[in-house]
Amino acid sequence: MKTSASLDSDTGGESDTASESGLVVAVDGPSGAGKSSASRGAAIALGLRYLDTGSMYRALTWWLLDQGVDVSDAAAVARLAAEPVIEVGTDPRAPWTRVNGADVSAAIRTREVTGAVSAVATVPQVRAHLIGQQRDIIANAPGIVAEGRDIGTVVAPEAPVKVFLTAESAARAGRRAAEANWSAVSTRHDQDRRDRLDAPQSGQAADAVEIDSTRLDLDQVVEVIVRLAREYAGLPHPHRPTR
Ligand code: DC
Repeated sequence: MKTSASLDSDTGGESDTASESGLVVAVDGPSGAGKSSASRGAAIALGLRYLDTGSMYRALTWWLLDQGVDVSDAAAVARLAAEPVIEVGTDPRAPWTRVNGADVSAAIRTREVTGAVSAVATVPQVRAHLIGQQRDIIANAPGIVAEGRDIGTVVAPEAPVKVFLTAESAARAGRRAAEANWSAVSTRHDQDRRDRLDAPQSGQAADAVEIDSTRLDLDQVVEVIVRLAREYAGLPHPHRPTR
């Protein structure tokens, strides 16, 4: 299978980073918990690459919509799951997503794709295909932070560092609405629907460390993930001045 990840630029790791260690950090949790920002921040701090598995489900959904496929037709979605070439960039400073060579990094974040992606992600053939690609990307990376819904349970259950990032529903919807400039009420409604649809594909590994980000800022969440990874890798935690 084609390995569909690349690192466009050096992540600039220092000698005491976890890069080249093969370390896999799994970050799972519901939408709006802050997984992407926290995973990217942790990957940068640790000198690791970064995999956003949700972007791959979004990319397939974008392509299906672009082809005029009815995404509620599971048989059609299953038949076409492996048709487009989906590639992702794993530089945590500048991740990108491509479908058949075209950059769709922005297009996969629209409300239309966000509303349709859960239906696509529930199709078993879609999951089998994309999980295979995700495992190849992880296996070929010198060390990576991978985020999604099932990384610690299905994609990379052997990952030695697992985080389940959560937040209260209202806080998650509030962040999403502020980021995308959407109304808070409709965002909460859409989020509740997606939570329900994504639940069967989502899991918290028994050995995952749960972080509730409701009252934490991004730096604090990154710091917890970095500390867990450095402890596992036997690296000293950098001194932080107390405020
Ligand atoms: O994290 P996100 O909102 O970009 O994810 C997009 C969709 O893909 C969401 O409906 C959940 C689904 N998804 C999944 O089923 N498994 C993953 N590993 C990642 C995302």
